[in-house]
Amino acid sequence: MEERLLPLRPNVRVVGVDASAAMLSLAKQRLKEAQFRLIRHDLNDIESLSLPSAPLQAVIIVQTLHHLPHPKQREVYRFVHRHLEPGGLFLFMDRVRLPAAPTCGNGSSSKRNTRAEKAGNNS
Ligand SMILES: C[S@@+](CC[C@H](N)C(=O)[O-])C[C@H]1O[C@@H](n2cnc3c(N)ncnc32)[C@H](O)[C@@H]1O
Repeated sequence: MEERLLPLRPNVRVVGVDASAAMLSLAKQRLKEAQFRLIRHDLNDIESLSLPSAPLQAVIIVQTLHHLPHPKQREVYRFVHRHLEPGGLFLFMDRVRLPAAPTCGNGSSSKRNTRAEKAGNNS
């Protein structure tokens, strides 16, 4: 995601956060052109994450928060809300668990699942 966005804004300063040294090293290889700072940090402890004091123009979180328990995810949302400048961009892409099918809306997803299961497709 960042690889596609950063060339559009070449002068931005990027702070990349992940708990994995291997993932940060990969980011370093792939975000060559950006001015960036990479921080190894466990997002379960979001309040101790040290960021630049200026408000953030954008926060991008991709396929990461589902690793955290829900109360910790909420802490991250609150942290983002506090650090994002007014009108800033919060781009969030992740897996989202839907409510159980029988209690979900008009039940259409339940019907879809049943059809898929009958067809032998449980994916
Ligand atoms: C599917 S990868 C996505 C990586 C990257 N955001 C991307 O879109 O390519 C999930 C990432 O979540 C990171 N992660 C999992 N639990 C974490 C935690 N508690 N704190 C920080 N990062 C975590 C893993 O290290 C891994 O790099």
